[in-house]
Amino acid sequence: MSDVPAPTLFTWEFAADPYPAYAWLREHAPVHRTTLPSGVEAWLVTRYPDARQALADARLSKNPVHHSESAHAKGKVGIPGERSADLMTHLLNIDPPDHTRLRRLVSKAFTPRRVAEFAPRVAELTNRLIDSFAPRGEADLIHEFAFPLPIYAICDMLGVPAEDQDDFRDWAGMMIRHGGGPRGGVARSVKKMRAYLLDLIHRKRSDLGDDLISGLIRASDHGEHLTENEAAAMAFILLFAGFETTVNLIGNGTYALLRNPEQRRLLQESVGRGEAGLLATAVEELLRYDGPVELATWRFATEPLSIGGQLIGTGDPVLVVLAAADRDPERFDGPDILDLARRDNPHLGFGHGIHYCLGAPLARLEGQTALGALLTRLPDLQLAVEPGELRWRGGLIMRGLRTLPVSFTAVQDVSNG
Ligand code: HEM
Repeated sequence: MSDVPAPTLFTWEFAADPYPAYAWLREHAPVHRTTLPSGVEAWLVTRYPDARQALADARLSKNPVHHSESAHAKGKVGIPGERSADLMTHLLNIDPPDHTRLRRLVSKAFTPRRVAEFAPRVAELTNRLIDSFAPRGEADLIHEFAFPLPIYAICDMLGVPAEDQDDFRDWAGMMIRHGGGPRGGVARSVKKMRAYLLDLIHRKRSDLGDDLISGLIRASDHGEHLTENEAAAMAFILLFAGFETTVNLIGNGTYALLRNPEQRRLLQESVGRGEAGLLATAVEELLRYDGPVELATWRFATEPLSIGGQLIGTGDPVLVVLAAADRDPERFDGPDILDLARRDNPHLGFGHGIHYCLGAPLARLEGQTALGALLTRLPDLQLAVEPGELRWRGGLIMRGLRTLPVSFTAVQDVSNG
């Protein structure tokens, strides 16, 4: 142990900048048992090689029934409100062979090609949102841009009719605000969303279209189909997994660019020349440098095992700290430096192994489109408050800003954005 005292985790100061604490853990207690704010005890894995091993280790189950304390039953583990809404059978809560079957089915509907075809629609949504605040010369980029973009994008992909999308925006808003929202509001929103999705699936069954929900209904593997409940849980996890994450990619990403003016200038010039190369590596670097998912989702040891030389007991929860692994100096040169052109960048921002992010192509598309459009359409974008005034959400799994107030030269003519 060093002379430097162990850091206090999960405070507001920690939420604002967890990286010094993670550096300490990586060096002095790389597999560290801690008590989470919920009271649940868990192991934090912080070094890159250990993190990769743990993410791909079949002895670590995603199914909360393997948790020794059965904290899931008390609602302390998992998606808030999901139990009450019977949405448990989704990819992030199950293991092979069920996971293999469901992932194969959903992969038939949610293909990289379908995502690529969606690019013009994402660009249109992005520009429409920028149009809505560009004439004002100031905005809160979280609420007016980063938050609505992924909700409208995934609603469009799923085939949620335009007139119902604002309901989704409200329900999703309640889910992201949990903690600050009214009591029971999250569970109610999840219930409403599930009822809506089941009804939509039911209606689409007799009128299949070109959307993702129709794709989920149609998808079959060796004659097997998703049940309506499974299709609803799948649509829900696509929304849930793809929503706050993308909000945070746009929010954290923009913030990192604003704090690193030289890097931002290089990117702005490159995007201005119509190049796509630096924008692509930039989004990967932003995922590594201050990614949306700070800790990977829960895993539970199904038998005694060793991670980085530390013995983990059966039933123990393991949380892989992606944010710590992605700044491991043993793996990344100058890990605390934002280098948008970084080439050797096998970051864990989308996870690793069989649960690797299914939505990575959509996340990349949205991240690149959103950041590219912001930099070209609002070239003098700047923070409207001091960095110290910004507040982070302080959740366990996700890392993201509550608000991101910015100012820029107002753009009056938005017609050709
Ligand atoms: C920047 C945005 C995103 C980030 C950083 C991200 C990150 C991740 C990570 C780290 C995991 C693995 C979690 C674990 O192993 O514990 C994951 C899984 C997943 N993600 Fe994403 N995600 C993003 C966007 C999306 C989008 C847009 C969608 C879909 C619309 C999506 C759908 C999923 C699904 C379904 C899984 C579960 C896959 C499985 O268990 O097989 N994600 N994501």
